[in-house]
Amino acid sequence: MRKEKVTLPRLMEMKKSGEKITMLTAYDCLLAQILDEAGIDILLVGDSMGNVILGYENTIPVTMRDIIHHTKAVSRGVKNALVVSDMPFMSYFSTEEALKNSGRLIRAGAQAVKLEGGLAFEDKIRTLTESGIPVMGHIGLMPQHIYQMGGYKVQGKTPEETKRIMDDAKAVESAGAFSIILEGMPSNLAKNITEELKIPTIGCGAGVHCGGQVLVTHDLLGFYDFAPRFVKRYANLREIILKASRKYKVEVEEGIFPTDQYSYD
Ligand code: KIV
Repeated sequence: MRKEKVTLPRLMEMKKSGEKITMLTAYDCLLAQILDEAGIDILLVGDSMGNVILGYENTIPVTMRDIIHHTKAVSRGVKNALVVSDMPFMSYFSTEEALKNSGRLIRAGAQAVKLEGGLAFEDKIRTLTESGIPVMGHIGLMPQHIYQMGGYKVQGKTPEETKRIMDDAKAVESAGAFSIILEGMPSNLAKNITEELKIPTIGCGAGVHCGGQVLVTHDLLGFYDFAPRFVKRYANLREIILKASRKYKVEVEEGIFPTDQYSYD
C-alpha cells in the first residue's frame, strides 16, 4: 500500500491527473490505523460522530470538545492519510471563533479543517486560509442546516438552487479552500462544479463525476440495518458482531468458555 504522506499539493496533483481521491470518516485510533493502512487518502473526524458514536439524532449537539477529543485519537493512529476535522455547529459563527477553534483542531492533530457553507462563509474561509489553516469546504446538503432545509433533502433540484450551489462552490474556491465536499446533489450539477473548479471535489451522494468520494465508515462497513441510497455496503459488521457476541454469551453461560487453554495456570 501507499507509503508516502498525503499532502495538499499531492491532492492537487491527483485532481490534475484524474486519480480518484478516497476519503472516509474515522473517530478513533484503531479504526484510523486500519483505514490508513488500507491507503485511504483522507480521514475525516466528522461531526457525523454525533449520529454514529454519540447517539444523537443529528450533528447539531456535537461540540468542539468532542471533535478535539476524537481528533487526538485519530491523529495518533495515522501515518500517511491527511487528517481533516469538522468544525462543529456554531464553532465558526464569527471570524474570531473560526480562527480560535480551527487553531484548536490543528493543535489537536488535524492537518486541515472542514466547514459547511458557501458564499456566506467566503470571508471566514479566506481569513483561515490566509492564516495558514487549510480549509475543506462543504456545500449542497449541509447536515448542520437541517432545520433550514427541512430535513436531509437532496439540494440543487431547481434552477435557482443550482445557481446558488454553483455560486457557493466558486466562492469556496476563491476564498482559498484546497478541496470541497459536494453532498446530496444531482450528479449533473456535481459534474459541472467539478469541471468548473481547479480544486478537487469530493462527492457524498453526488454521483460519479467528482474527483473523489467520501462515506461514513460505519455505513460502508454495515453497522446499520438502514443505509441511504448512495451508500454501498462493503461488509455486514452488524451481523458479524451480533453473531460473535451471541456466541460468546452462550459459551460463557454454558461453561464452554473459558477452558484451561485460556488460563494462566
Ligand atoms: O461528518 C461527516 O461525516 C461528513 C461527511 C459525510 C462528508 O461531513
